[in-house]
Amino acid sequence: MTKQFSGSCERNQQPILEQLFRLFKDRQRVLEIGSGTGQHAVFFAKHLAHINWHTSDAKTNHASINAWIEESPSQNLHSPIEFLFGEQSWPAIEMDAVFTANTTHIMQKHHAKLMMETIAANLQKGGLFCQYGPFNIDGKYTSEGNREFDLHLANEGCGGIRDINELTQWATGLRLVEKISMPANNFLLVWQRY
Ligand SMILES: C[S@@+](CC[C@H](N)C(=O)[O-])C[C@H]1O[C@@H](n2cnc3c(N)ncnc32)[C@H](O)[C@@H]1O
Repeated sequence: MTKQFSGSCERNQQPILEQLFRLFKDRQRVLEIGSGTGQHAVFFAKHLAHINWHTSDAKTNHASINAWIEESPSQNLHSPIEFLFGEQSWPAIEMDAVFTANTTHIMQKHHAKLMMETIAANLQKGGLFCQYGPFNIDGKYTSEGNREFDLHLANEGCGGIRDINELTQWATGLRLVEKISMPANNFLLVWQRY
């Protein structure tokens, strides 16, 4: 697959960036989990020039990520690492933050659990994990649209929308320091390693 385009990335990247300006202002090296098309990486690396942004995803997505990077190369933007929870071991790069968007509801439940556990185990003290996407609160959907989306995810064989309480239970070693409401019934969850 060559260069792919995601409409949702196009729509959510500016609101996410506005939060990352603040959250990542003193960060140096970010690992992105599930870079997808590569759009977010190119956009965030351009606007957060002080950060080394490392992309990662399944090998099948690398051609698209590389195509976006080749079109907008930057010294702080790094070619993809082959990494999926449950498939490869945690990338051996130093990082002080992890970012992921719209991956938690796509991966299987046991992989979402593994993600929270692995990041908690590997992030340095004070490190941040910014996790964007739809999440449930206290066992409830936050919108009718999210309920319908979750049915669609189940039909597609995806793990589905996770509850923030469930993530919190899995994330021993991470503290949920911010729960930011984002457009279209999404959240940006900010976890910090303690
Ligand atoms: C809906 S796409 C989101 C891509 C991109 N982050 C975005 O916001 O457009 C879901 C992504 O989750 C990734 N993914 C699925 N299972 C995963 C796993 N077990 N570990 C890491 N990433 C996974 C997929 O490869 C895909 O890139």
